[in-house]
Amino acid sequence: MLLSFLAFWLRAFLVNGVFVEEAFETDWHLESLGHYECVLESPEQGALIILSSIDSKTLVSFVNETNGQLLHRQLWGSKTSDAMMLPDSNHYLLRDYDGKISVFDSSSGLQTTTYDASNVEFVSACDPKLTDVKVTTHSLQVLEAESKLEVLRVNVSSTLDTVVFFSTDYSSIVKVLYSTTDGKYVYQSLKNNEMLKEWIREDLNGEVIAHTFINLIDGSLQTISEELATEDAFQNVWEAYVFRVTTNWGRLRETLRESGYSIGKVLTKLMKLDSDAFGAGPDVVFGLAKLLVVATDRFVIEAFDVQNGKKVWRFDCGLKVVLLDYAEESNELRVFSKDGSYEIYDLSDAYSPQLKTQTSFDGGNVKSISSLKSNEFFVEFESGEEQVIFIGGDREKLGDTFITNHDSNGVYGHIVNKDGLLKETWKIELLDSEELVAFASRHEEPTATLGQTLGDRSVLYKYLYPNLAAYVTLNSQKGKMFVNLIDTVTGELLYSQSHDDKVDGDAPINIVFGEYWFVYSYFSAEPIPEQKLVTVELYESLEANKRVSNAVRKSNVLMRSHKPKVISAAYFFPEVIRRMTVSKGKFGITSKAIIMELESGQITYLAKEILSARRVEESKMTDDAKKEFMAMPYISTIPLNDQFIITHSRNLLMGQNSQLVSVATNLESTTIVCDIGHDIFCTKIYPSGQFDIMSPDFEKGKLLATIIGLVILCYFLRPSVEAAKLKKLWLVR
Ligand SMILES: *[C@@H]1O[C@H](CO)[C@@H](O)[C@H](O)[C@H]1NC(C)=O
Ligand SMILES: *[C@@H]1O[C@H](CO)[C@@H](O)[C@H](O)[C@H]1NC(C)=O
Repeated sequence: MLLSFLAFWLRAFLVNGVFVEEAFETDWHLESLGHYECVLESPEQGALIILSSIDSKTLVSFVNETNGQLLHRQLWGSKTSDAMMLPDSNHYLLRDYDGKISVFDSSSGLQTTTYDASNVEFVSACDPKLTDVKVTTHSLQVLEAESKLEVLRVNVSSTLDTVVFFSTDYSSIVKVLYSTTDGKYVYQSLKNNEMLKEWIREDLNGEVIAHTFINLIDGSLQTISEELATEDAFQNVWEAYVFRVTTNWGRLRETLRESGYSIGKVLTKLMKLDSDAFGAGPDVVFGLAKLLVVATDRFVIEAFDVQNGKKVWRFDCGLKVVLLDYAEESNELRVFSKDGSYEIYDLSDAYSPQLKTQTSFDGGNVKSISSLKSNEFFVEFESGEEQVIFIGGDREKLGDTFITNHDSNGVYGHIVNKDGLLKETWKIELLDSEELVAFASRHEEPTATLGQTLGDRSVLYKYLYPNLAAYVTLNSQKGKMFVNLIDTVTGELLYSQSHDDKVDGDAPINIVFGEYWFVYSYFSAEPIPEQKLVTVELYESLEANKRVSNAVRKSNVLMRSHKPKVISAAYFFPEVIRRMTVSKGKFGITSKAIIMELESGQITYLAKEILSARRVEESKMTDDAKKEFMAMPYISTIPLNDQFIITHSRNLLMGQNSQLVSVATNLESTTIVCDIGHDIFCTKIYPSGQFDIMSPDFEKGKLLATIIGLVILCYFLRPSVEAAKLKKLWLVR
């Protein structure tokens, strides 16, 4: 029985896994080498070894010297202050900030202890010495030591910023790698003034500290809505009809003209529905076309196409960005910086941002800022002050808004009144021994059903009160953790549970909040050191078909009439979970998935049903219970299924401050998932399968032929049917 269950859900899920053919097609990975600090040459391997920092570690990247392609990357546990390639070029040395020198093998990149480097004289390779070299706007000249006459010359880009690697023999060979002011790295290698090798790498400039998504808007829908508006404006129905016929006739003629008056071509276009043939193309219509805009710690803002990772635009903003915010209604990108200044860019043309406003607000350095409504932001200053600010446009009538924020010492409730004044309403302060380690609040999302349908067709009503938040506090001395659920309007504690199993405070602790449930993860040492995943589900009542909230009366979202009834279940998970997020769907119909970034640098996802808090052991499951959608008996360990590793063989290097995000598309089945940090990785997942997409082998041709066949059949059969009817009438009378 158990086996058949397993087989069932394996089958149900295998279908959704991403297969190798799809990998590298629907996803992309920007493997960043960071800011090049040192570059070593390894001629034996035909490689350049590039050093950069990530968190407090050193990233060692091997790049093919011929074409600039990344060969492999490795992390070295401490930060490097200097580096050097040994003359044999088989080993290189890294020196950390304590002056400790470690030896590495240049072909494998692994540390070796067999080589004794104690009496090597350290010659730094990190600051290329440009002795007898003259750099001008367009060229780099290598001069003869004595006469100072030009021996060799490299034509360099006029955007040259810094030379990060330089090597020459002062007679025939010169190699140079430099950064440019527009964020690229250019490598040139010349022999006897002939270009041998040349390539450009466009790495991410620094680590991402803020990001946002921009929807590319479908221009063709605009035309259609304008046409409909014109039609509505006509007084006379007949005129409106003529207008519609003429515009459509014009459109048809245009299509015919474009395809050279060949009916065949028009039909092929129809069948292929290819993106160029019809207006904006399906990607725009389906909301898959988006730009991912990121701000990095090196004061750069860059935009990537979410579909393929191509860089769309980039500019230096010179700001230490704390928030990027995109307002769809006004097509504006707002860039807020640490010192309270902000810039607004006009994105009417998403492909070329135009600076519109540049100004600032008072209050000193900003700690954090979050968007409340399109033009209102909640700002926390480093001084501890908090404020609601309005930027641009008309001030919308806010009404009362409740804001909850938190830091490691507590959770705080505020209210913003109609005039935009902020007042603290409640406060939860933690004990000195405790620390708030994770926080998640319920988001405003569409709810498709009020209840969970059980196997016997009865319903468990979900607890859908919107103003909820859950947080985790940890006493790391005792290894004890509390998980609390609160009402964010009143600050009242609705539910609490604790774990006393030697929770590891150094391991990541995450919490995510879905529609009527939350899931948290932590690592604990007892009974065995293991990663734990706990689900808490909130219902109106635990009795089937019993509804507590009033279905008829419209209730005030600020007034909670009752507390939730809670079920919880805990699971083991085979890998340490670094970060979690919940998949987003446009209409909330698709099953939710918990997306997880693992310690191993992989990303995987689990259907929420697998983590259901209502799973019980098989012996306790009734026949009816087994009929429920995706019902499974309780098994304490959730296996890691390779099919659900959405990163495949890729190895992500995300850094400490990366963010795992999910964005909805217009296709209910499809969710875009991005992990954004040192690297950027984006892919699409289909938590319930691609139910709203026609399969590529759908036979449009046969369908069309059948329809045409039926029409012809009707045409011929109609006279005989009429005749038969007539005859029948004659016979009856
Ligand atoms: C570097 O690229 C060249 C050309 O694509 C290739 O022939 C060579 O094998 C590559 N080198 C390494 C070390 O992969
Ligand atoms: C550098 O530029 C000069 C003049 O613009 C040109 O004559 C020369 O061939 C160039 N050298 C290389 C290696 O491209």
